[in-house]
Amino acid sequence: MKNAPIGIFDSGLGGLTVAKAISNLMPQERIIYYGDTLHLPYGEKSDTHIKEYSAAIVEYLIKQGVKLIVIACNSASATAASYLREKYHEQIEIRGVIRPMLKAVAQKNYAQIGLIGTQVTVQSEVYTSILNEYNPITKLNALATPLLVPMIEEGFNKNDISKEVIKEYLSQFKDIEALLLACTHYPLIKKSVIDFFENKIDVMDNADFMAQDVKAYLEKNNLLSINKEGEDEFKVSDYTKTFAKSASMFFGKEINVTEHNIFAL
Ligand code: DGL
Repeated sequence: MKNAPIGIFDSGLGGLTVAKAISNLMPQERIIYYGDTLHLPYGEKSDTHIKEYSAAIVEYLIKQGVKLIVIACNSASATAASYLREKYHEQIEIRGVIRPMLKAVAQKNYAQIGLIGTQVTVQSEVYTSILNEYNPITKLNALATPLLVPMIEEGFNKNDISKEVIKEYLSQFKDIEALLLACTHYPLIKKSVIDFFENKIDVMDNADFMAQDVKAYLEKNNLLSINKEGEDEFKVSDYTKTFAKSASMFFGKEINVTEHNIFAL
């Protein structure tokens, strides 16, 4: 069991930012990544569909013999995490990206912070309610920023157009001490966000907090891998050349992405 892989999934390839952080922190761990590019974007889907797609992926990952499942997608973590945990708790541990970041945020005792994410994540108000559980003092202003995912996927993360779009959205925040990047695509624009705020506020994303959370869980349960048996696997439900290009952009190095459509009848 210790050497079993970690299953990680996302609506597409943004979750590779989380996979990368996990792999950097624990290079001995083997990863099986599943990106549901067929149903991308989750950020604009109904809860019912996100739950249905996520459950199919969880079942696939369980069949691959993973020791833990990470939902590397805020939209799926916000809408489907509780449902998936309830449904599969006897078979597998499932962890979402929201709590690890919020636990760290809660300790800072900020008065006011901002958040950007998909429509689904913002409308779910899950960040607000979990933060309230950990620290009722911090006030959270959440803004849906739907143009950012397609923009980043197009590779526009530090040009004049992306700077303008980021400026338009972020100008709406007043007097915040931190901004949460509540979408796994957003680490790619982190530098532009920091620049927009002239380095005066904290800018946080899910990836490193999630990796720390995974490490703590594996340590606590004596599940840290002793040696890496086999290669990481990166699968998507629908493969196009564009995805191959963005995969290396999100993971930070060339990776081999193959199609495996678990949704085909
Ligand atoms: N990666 C997803 C998230 O973290 C955003 C992409 C999508 O909308 O599917 O919410």
